[in-house]
Amino acid sequence: MNACVRAVVRTALFNQVKVSGIIRGYNGLLDGEIKELSSHSVSNIIQRGGTILKSARSEKFRTPEGRKEAADILRKHGIDGLVVIGGDGTFTGAHFLFEEHGIAVIGAPGTIDNDLYGTDYTIGYDTAVNTALSAVDRIRDTAEAHDRVFFIEVMGRDAGYIALNVAIGGGAEAVLIPETETDLNHIADTLKEGWEREKTSSIIIVAEGDEQGGAYEVVEKLKKDLPQLKYRIAVLGHIQRGGSPTAMDRMLASRLGHAAVSGLLNGKKDCMAGILNNKVEYTPLAEAISIDKPINPQLIEMTEILAH
Ligand code: F6P
Repeated sequence: MNACVRAVVRTALFNQVKVSGIIRGYNGLLDGEIKELSSHSVSNIIQRGGTILKSARSEKFRTPEGRKEAADILRKHGIDGLVVIGGDGTFTGAHFLFEEHGIAVIGAPGTIDNDLYGTDYTIGYDTAVNTALSAVDRIRDTAEAHDRVFFIEVMGRDAGYIALNVAIGGGAEAVLIPETETDLNHIADTLKEGWEREKTSSIIIVAEGDEQGGAYEVVEKLKKDLPQLKYRIAVLGHIQRGGSPTAMDRMLASRLGHAAVSGLLNGKKDCMAGILNNKVEYTPLAEAISIDKPINPQLIEMTEILAH
């Protein structure tokens, strides 16, 4: 997100537009936590995880009264356009701000879950996948040395993008994602077949949002049919949300921040800047938040094939 903030600030200043940062999202906006940003204020942040602007949830902004107050504060500060970086919740709020008060808003998709329609990738996703992958590589050493099956739970909320890509990149034996129905009998058979082929260790990636539950729940269910299962569970958690961003993420965030400001300057509003097939495209916020981004079924099939 820092790379995106930097791109927004520098693009605005390049176009002789004054730019302010709102600290702690909509919450900070309602508290008037707004400060003018200079080119120097975004120096030396492109390589840092998190966001210098901080982040927060706001209950008040969910109400029409809260949004009216927010619009008044924006006007009072002479703010003509608002760039928001975030996911579903952030964009829903931005869309209302435009619909109810005519504030020119534009979104840059930022979530590790990669679940936003209108962009191939979201800011943070690539870093999260790479962080999870390096954890899987390390865990594999123990799995192999101790002949164990490891169940590794990754984030993603209701989406399986992180899980699927970590499974492919980490050479996992199986992956459980919310987008497809998980058949635990099939997972048990896969493990049994592996044991018959003298495969002694396996990695199974579980998306936290799988309908069978997280890794702990899945193992409890599987154990009934596989009492001989020698296993360990690792829930990767918030390590996936931090750390220095990958080159891909820095590029993506820079392009999206630049595209968001260029879009606003060209009169675009109530939309999200995204990258589709390596080209900047703008998608109405209403679509970005309501249309599901489907997971490529060929990737799911391929994961299964490559695991054998
Ligand atoms: O949406 C991003 C995400 O990291 C999800 O993958 C995860 O389920 C959730 O946020 C965790 O949220 P929190 O940090 O509030 O526990």
